[in-house]
Amino acid sequence: MQTENWIEIEHDYYFQTGKRLPVILDHGEGTKVWDTDGKEYLDFVGGIAVVSLGHAHPVITDALTRQAKKLVTTSNYYYTVPQLKLAKLLCQSSGMDKAFFCNSGAEAVEGLIKLARKWGKEKRDGAYEIIVAENAFHGRTLATVTASANERYRAPFTPLVEGFVRVPYDDIEAIKSATTGKTVAVLLEPLQGEGGVNVPDDDYLPAVRRWCDEAGILMLLDEVQTGAGRTGKIFAFQHYENAEPDALAVAKALAGGVPIGAFMAKESCALLGKGEHGTTFGGNALACEVGYSVLSYIIDNDLPAQITKRGEHLERRLLSLVDRQPMVIEVRGKGLIWAIELDRPASEAIVERCLEAGLLVNAVKPTALRFVPPFTVSEQEIDRAVEIIDMVLAQMSEEQ
Ligand SMILES: Cc1ncc(COP(=O)(O)O)c(C=O)c1O
Repeated sequence: MQTENWIEIEHDYYFQTGKRLPVILDHGEGTKVWDTDGKEYLDFVGGIAVVSLGHAHPVITDALTRQAKKLVTTSNYYYTVPQLKLAKLLCQSSGMDKAFFCNSGAEAVEGLIKLARKWGKEKRDGAYEIIVAENAFHGRTLATVTASANERYRAPFTPLVEGFVRVPYDDIEAIKSATTGKTVAVLLEPLQGEGGVNVPDDDYLPAVRRWCDEAGILMLLDEVQTGAGRTGKIFAFQHYENAEPDALAVAKALAGGVPIGAFMAKESCALLGKGEHGTTFGGNALACEVGYSVLSYIIDNDLPAQITKRGEHLERRLLSLVDRQPMVIEVRGKGLIWAIELDRPASEAIVERCLEAGLLVNAVKPTALRFVPPFTVSEQEIDRAVEIIDMVLAQMSEEQ
């Protein structure tokens, strides 16, 4: 069937909740994907920071087939080895004591919110307010969309969930001023992804940790986008001394594209008891076997070191655009999550032109493009991606 027919079918039968690009992707390998007409693209979107080992990586296809032939799911009425070995590995690599699995980032953050509410009831006189940040993104369930900042995502669904207080990001004094007897926790991304790739000052997370200790409240980190290696450490908080949270959420890159989410907590706040939380699909043997295989591969092959090195290369190449292309005014990021800020709202037009030229990138804001390639991306692929952006920006400047 022709591309146009599938686009019509999508229009007729699928909720129109987002803008899609006019291409049907068919298969991939490493950093490359191909559409149904056989055209090749470099994939610097990677399922939105998900495809950690690249497309069709043998570690993932082997784990999927091996486990699918044995057992896909059992429910959580029973023990399975893949779930428990991944729980242990996640706790060991994050410094947390307990893990719980779900199926997405939003569900993982929802778990943190429930954990904080329960902790507030038991340990802080019923306190329930959670301090969240401007430009935050935590997901699309009702509680996580309330915790998120984007009004467009929130307004259609009022009344929202009670108990969230918003402060500017990267501003410790604002957190201090917003803390009251009702506050139970601070919930933050260690580096904001959907908000435009905003990297806080080096002393922000340690200062949040110190304040949470002083005020007797929980520090919750949403590492859904940053966790499992993306920033050059297994978890982004590990870049700093003394920034360990009380609990954290992870998802996206953990199983390289197979849906999974998890939250982990220190024993002191791991208070969810029998019957107080649950899931049908969460922690299934298939997703956990893949998650375990991917995370073990990332750790055993020291991918964080490679991510740091490739990230520095990508940063250098993006900075070279600032010199050549007046439209690019800032470059920001860490590891393999980067954005370029533009002097005008041109990101969607650039994304369309890059698509034509064989590069997938994402308009994270009207004025910013985001780059989240697989951890296995090569320097040559980075050079080619930046060459395409350079060419597209040059064309657009000429046309003015
Ligand atoms: C920091 C953060 N938290 C939560 C989410 C929600 O994850 P999901 O889309 O898997 O529900 C995202 C997704 O982009 C995210 O970046």
